[in-house]
Formats: sequence, structure tokens, C-alpha cells
Amino acid sequence: MVDALYRRRTAAGTLLFDEGDEADCAYIVERGRVEIAATRATGSVVLTRLGPGEIFGEMALVDGAPRSASARCLDDCVFVVVGRDQIHREIAGATPLMSILLRTLIHRLRVATSRVLSPALPIGMDETARIVARIEGEHELRRALENGEVVAFLQPIVSLSGAVPAGFEALARWAHPTRGLLPPAALLGPAAEADLLETLDFAVAGAAARKVADLNRDLAAAGRQPAFLSANFSAPHFADTQLAGRLAPMLEEAGLDPIHLKVEITETTLIVNPHAAEALARVKALGACVSLDDFGTGYSGLSYLSRFPIDHIKIDQSFTSRLVADKRTAEIVRSVVDLARLLDISAVAEGIETQEQARRLAEMGVGFGQGYLFGAPVPADAACAAFLAA
Ligand code: CMP
Ligand code: MG
Repeated sequence: MVDALYRRRTAAGTLLFDEGDEADCAYIVERGRVEIAATRATGSVVLTRLGPGEIFGEMALVDGAPRSASARCLDDCVFVVVGRDQIHREIAGATPLMSILLRTLIHRLRVATSRVLSPALPIGMDETARIVARIEGEHELRRALENGEVVAFLQPIVSLSGAVPAGFEALARWAHPTRGLLPPAALLGPAAEADLLETLDFAVAGAAARKVADLNRDLAAAGRQPAFLSANFSAPHFADTQLAGRLAPMLEEAGLDPIHLKVEITETTLIVNPHAAEALARVKALGACVSLDDFGTGYSGLSYLSRFPIDHIKIDQSFTSRLVADKRTAEIVRSVVDLARLLDISAVAEGIETQEQARRLAEMGVGFGQGYLFGAPVPADAACAAFLAA
């Protein structure tokens, strides 16, 4: 009976555990009352009486020390048993700061109230040093965002049929005052930890949108086609369905027509966020396009192409790099591109470094390419000037 694994029923008077016992679980009271008592100088003292909905026996599980008090059933009781592993898993998943706060509080409570000798607080300099580094990292990133140190680089995306530039992908760079130009990796970790990914993405997309809007005015004046902007939007944007509502004022302020924006979302983000479909439908309603990033690296499978409103797939560079040497990779790309075309989805190949790769991809019907062959990510002004000169 599964129930037996999680629930324990005991008769009135049962001693669940004694002060000083080793601990292997905590309890949540479902029915009945429990008396918590501990030995003091004056003898046994009742610390509290607990009823349905309350938890006890958690302290010894969190700090690994013996039970700080005894627990006796006052009635026939039913408990939900919380195992040591469950609690340890949750503590391991907590942020370092939360974990230290929790252990410190329990330590203080034991020192203040318990007769059972409290273990030394097992928190070392290493652990606090990591927390200090993290807090500093967050401050530094906030300052960087405020000071405009987070900048948008643009990498050209070209139409493979004539190798002519068609648009850009915006990529974050950190122009750090002392450490120089830092790659996205230096930004993404701290931003995720500090809950600043959305701010970061918008800072980059907004700055890039202003540059591309300016470029498009110059292109229009020269009677040329406008450039598009592909910008990355990370998982937190898809925790709700409001991305389009936040994009509209950004595009308005930048002066970029929504039809020239492509919202890049990774396969993984698409899969794990139940709101992604609705969020993307609204992005489409705004007039923007949706580009599925890192295509082929997740586990989305082809059914996702029909289930979500996707306009482009970005074939991951791992396919591009194997394509020429490996016939099977080439066949996979060919069939994906064929299928995508039937669904009115165009393909962009990432990581193109050689003419041969570009030629093969074009031959397979891949419409667009991106990679060092056509240009590395460069500051937005330089990228726009090169586009205009092409
Ligand atoms: P633990 O030390 O695992 O086992 C005894 C439990 O009694 C303890 O966890 C807490 O759940 C509870 N407990 C300990 N001290 C107090 C207190 N001062 N007041 C209320 N409950 C307590
Ligand atoms: Mg991308």
C-alpha cells in the first residue's frame, strides 16, 4: 500500500522519538495532537502542543544533530512522514544563502533552548566566500546594466542564395571597465542568479532595435530592403504570456517595426514552459516572427514545428560543423529543411565557417546562414555600417 510509505498512524501515548535520538524523518500532523517536551534544569518541560497542519522533527534533519526534544502523541494520530532525503534534496536545491540562513537559525534555536549539545555550525569560510562572491557579482551586474556596460553586438545573417546580408542576431557583451570585453557567459550566470535575465535581454534587444531602426531608415532612403533583427529571449520571459506586451513599447521607443523583429526562443525553453505557446501566439499577433534557436540540440522532435507558431528554425552549429564530413548529418539536415519548408518554416544555419558548408546548405534549401564566414559579432554601429556598404 503506497499510503504506508508516506503515512504513519499511532495510538495515543506513543513516544515518536526521544530527546537525543538519531533522526531519519520529520512529521506533518494530519490528525490528532502531539506534545513536544524537553529536559530543562527544572525537569521535563512541555515546549509546545501541535495539531493538524503543523510540522515537527525538522531540526535534527536539517543539521544532522540529535533530536532537540521528545514527541509524544496525545491522541490517536496520523502523520505524513517527510524523509531525510526529501529534506536534504530541497536544502541542496536552495540557494547558498538560503541554506546558510536556515542552518544558522536552527543553530541559534538549539543554542538558545536545547539541552542537547549543539554541533559547531558547519559553515566554513569557503561557503561564505562563495556567497560573498555571488552578492558582489549581482551588485556588479546591476551597476553594469545601469551604466550601459552591457552592449549589443550584431552578427550578420545572410541570404545564402546570393550571400547578401539580410539581418542580424543581437548578442550580449559586457564592456567591463577593468576586465575588458566579456562574452555572454560572464553575463548569463550572474543574471540568472540575480533574476536579471529579462532585464538583460531587453537591454540588448532594445539597444540593437534602435540601431537596426536607424539602419532601416538609411536603407529605405537608398531604396533597399530593410534588415531584420533576431534577438534572444530566455526562459523567464515565458513564465507568463506577457512578452508581446513588453515588446511593444520597446519597439515603439526604438522605432523598429515589429515585422522586422524575430524572437529567438530555444527548444528547451519552448518545451519546459507551458505558457510559451500562448506567449508566442501574442508575439505573432504583434507582427513579429518566431525563431526556434539551437534547433536539433534539445529533445523537441519535429512535432513541435506544427504545434507552435514558428517561422524559422536555427539549425545548430553542431550540425553545420559535421555536415560536410558526415553524410548522415547532411541527410538529417536535408529532411528537416524539406519538412520545414512544407510547413512554411524557413531555415537559418548557424556556425558557418567555410564556403563548402555554405554551398551545401544552400543546395539543401537552407535560406539563411550565420557564422564567421560572413562575419563575427561586432559592435552594432560597425555591423550596420558594413550592412549599408554591402
Ligand atoms: P528535532 O530536533 O528534529 O526533534 C524535536 C523537535 O521538536 C524539533 O525538531 C522541533 O520540531 C521541535 N522543537 C524543538 N524545540 C522547540 C521549541 N522550542 N518550540 C517548539 N517546538 C520545538
Ligand atoms: Mg540565438
